[in-house]
Amino acid sequence: MYHNGYEIKQKILSHTADVAILGLGYVGLPIAVEVARQGFRVTGIDVDASKVAMINKKLSYIPDVLGADLREVVKNKKFLATEDTSVLSSCDVIIICVPTPLTKTQEPDLSFVINAVKHCASHLRRGQLITLESTTYPGATAGEILNLLQKNSDLQVGDDFFLAFSPERVDPGNVTYNTKNITKVVGGITSQCTELASLFYKEIVDYTIMVSSPTAAEMTKVFENVYRSVNIALVNELMFICDQMGLDVWEIIDAAGTKPFGIQTFYPGPGVGGHCIPIDPHFLSWKAKEFGYSTRLIEIAAQINIEAVEYVVRKLERMLGEKNQSLRGAKILLMGVAYKRDIGDCRESPAINIMSRIISLGADVLYFDPYVPEVRLSSDLSVSCCTLTSRVLSSVDCVLVTTDHSCINYQWIVDQAQVVIDTRNVTRSLQKGQEKVILI
Ligand SMILES: NC(=O)c1ccc[n+]([C@@H]2O[C@H](COP(=O)([O-])OP(=O)(O)OC[C@H]3O[C@@H](n4cnc5c(N)ncnc54)[C@H](O)[C@@H]3O)[C@@H](O)[C@H]2O)c1
Repeated sequence: MYHNGYEIKQKILSHTADVAILGLGYVGLPIAVEVARQGFRVTGIDVDASKVAMINKKLSYIPDVLGADLREVVKNKKFLATEDTSVLSSCDVIIICVPTPLTKTQEPDLSFVINAVKHCASHLRRGQLITLESTTYPGATAGEILNLLQKNSDLQVGDDFFLAFSPERVDPGNVTYNTKNITKVVGGITSQCTELASLFYKEIVDYTIMVSSPTAAEMTKVFENVYRSVNIALVNELMFICDQMGLDVWEIIDAAGTKPFGIQTFYPGPGVGGHCIPIDPHFLSWKAKEFGYSTRLIEIAAQINIEAVEYVVRKLERMLGEKNQSLRGAKILLMGVAYKRDIGDCRESPAINIMSRIISLGADVLYFDPYVPEVRLSSDLSVSCCTLTSRVLSSVDCVLVTTDHSCINYQWIVDQAQVVIDTRNVTRSLQKGQEKVILI
């Protein structure tokens, strides 16, 4: 009945294919809503019962997903959520968006993906298209994942079922680029797999680009994040040197950025955060070892980005030292704890690392972040977001700007505070109070 994907192709083109999304987090929920908005019937599957319940109550928990869009697709019965994986057997397209963290020894932890793929394997049937969007090391889809799918099955990839890797490249909080208008890279196990996956994504997003294999697609994704990690490390290193030489690193980066070719502007900061930049480069380093190659540049970049946290702490200590104070007993207010602007994601956030470090050095720490009501530093230590008043601002020894949320009135902050250390250059264009500000 199925001739090289004929039936699934027809279902995709007529938008009658049933789609399952495994993992409904920062990546999975936006995709699920976008696929449903294109008229496909989508079942979202998550192990987290609270997310499933929120979706079915038509409530969005991801800032990039508009409540109105979610409400519409749930109301129109184009999208429902469940914890029950048995629905996979009736789905034609399965998209996997589960987490891919590192182990304690900085090796890829594929346990979530393996778990999800095992569910797919036990419901595998002819005609299904499975795509993995979770970031992973180059070679995972064609290796471990394909093996798991074929282990207890007579079905042949490329003939009976189809498997591809298509990395998610979304940038949470970015108002210009989103799931729909970011080009989707697609690499399948066979050319038929690539073409079918690309055909599906073309119905959802504006552009797709086909590459020769899933491993090429995996390497593309990892390279993109290595590129950012290395370039951020470069400007962080420039920041360390400029500090020693009494130069303003921001001035130099802005001046260099006026060259119309050969340079792309990256900015220094308190380090890198999120589920991508601090993690994905390790996937490549780990894989490269299998080939006897040591990814020196990638590893040193990761170290430099971690050192940025210590650099900020030293800067804070130096400023306090000039007032004959030490961190012990000093009252410090962190402005922003999310890993980047205008979102509430604190995973791997450098602000959290700074917070833990200065607490361990005896500082009395408060924070304000309009997107993060509470920060859990360990199993027995949580800090709640403070109420930001002029009294709080004037009572602290230093305001440390760690995240550059755009809804904050930085002029007001500087007006009230005694001293501000600005790790994000948000105070550069303020009209007054620059004498109270120390840029990193
Ligand atoms: N967050 C980003 O900005 C971003 C960008 C590009 C790529 N990625 C990659 O996308 C993947 C997902 O990241 P995320 O940020 O969406 O993670 P997330 O933690 O926000 O979401 C993952 C979801 O998967 C669920 N889950 C875990 N195991 C499951 C299983 N077996 N079955 C069903 N659901 C399961 C979790 O409960 C969670 O809701 C990762 O590989 C990440 O590296 C993330």
